[in-house]
Amino acid sequence: MRSRWVLVTGATSGIGKACAEHLAARGFAVLATGRNPQALRELAERARSSGWHLETLGLDVTSPEQIAKAVAAAQELSGGAGIEVLVNNAGIGQAGFLADLSAESLRAQFEVSLFGLHAVTRAFLAQLVSRRGTVINIGSIMGRMTVPWMGAYGAVKAAVRSLTETLRVELGSLGVRVVLVEPGAVETAFHKRAIAGSPQELPPESPFARSYAWLAANDYRPFYLMPAVSPLPIARLVERIAEARRPRARYVLPFAAHALLLLMRLTPRSLMDPLKRRVFHLPRVIPRALRPDRQ
Ligand SMILES: NC(=O)c1ccc[n+]([C@@H]2O[C@H](COP(=O)([O-])OP(=O)(O)OC[C@H]3O[C@@H](n4cnc5c(N)ncnc54)[C@H](OP(=O)(O)O)[C@@H]3O)[C@@H](O)[C@H]2O)c1
Repeated sequence: MRSRWVLVTGATSGIGKACAEHLAARGFAVLATGRNPQALRELAERARSSGWHLETLGLDVTSPEQIAKAVAAAQELSGGAGIEVLVNNAGIGQAGFLADLSAESLRAQFEVSLFGLHAVTRAFLAQLVSRRGTVINIGSIMGRMTVPWMGAYGAVKAAVRSLTETLRVELGSLGVRVVLVEPGAVETAFHKRAIAGSPQELPPESPFARSYAWLAANDYRPFYLMPAVSPLPIARLVERIAEARRPRARYVLPFAAHALLLLMRLTPRSLMDPLKRRVFHLPRVIPRALRPDRQ
């Protein structure tokens, strides 16, 4: 039987790694790609000792050259057949109140999570069309709701959602299924990484200085909107989608994520806005340095 090749981006950590390992364990031929060479070596070693059909390849989704190499490598590894499933998982987040985030930071997030996803999908389109394949984009419930301090990430994931909706219609006409997976909180390195860059963004005169201080002192509690699940349920869902002839357009998981989205949708803004301000300890009075009489 011909192997069914799946390419996963950002397979060096978290959800991408779980997807690559789970799909390989379930009999798919996996091309696990990512930036971190050490993590790729470890993944290749684990695949060897587990007897999986898994190959690793360096791929920064923001590099057109590396994307072109990945297309050629996938073609060759699959004996000319090409990949059948593309999991667009690579993504970054940068926490910070929007007034303090630089344009570079915002751009960097779009560069990886949106432009990278778009570039990789375009590059693999011919292979996916010839296999009547499936594209699985990892979005986030943050693309459907807005939360202070994660506004940039939310904007990126809202764009991923919108792009995926259009891709589904357009590529569907070519026989390619396009599916959006929108997880809630998942236990990965993501949160720590998103927080790590945050203080660098903090100008000393930030009107949100007290909010940052409160968040840091309280272990960034409001960031974790719900109990985080392990990446395995996401990997299992990705397998189900890869196997499905008619997958749904989008999947939200776990159940708590549905509940949160419903709460956000049903609560009027007049109640939700002050609640969000309170939860993130936003200023109740304009900081002295910003008062009009001081300008
Ligand atoms: N964790 C959550 O709560 C959660 C919830 C909803 C959605 N998501 C989404 O799930 C996806 C995976 O995140 P995660 O939680 O698994 O976080 P993670 O553990 O930080 O993994 C992110 C992955 O993306 C890779 N990546 C970053 N920039 C890249 C680039 N330029 N090119 C290729 N790969 C790149 C990282 O590789 P390096 O190690 O080389 O940086 C890493 O493998 C992201 O799209 C994220 O937005 C996460």
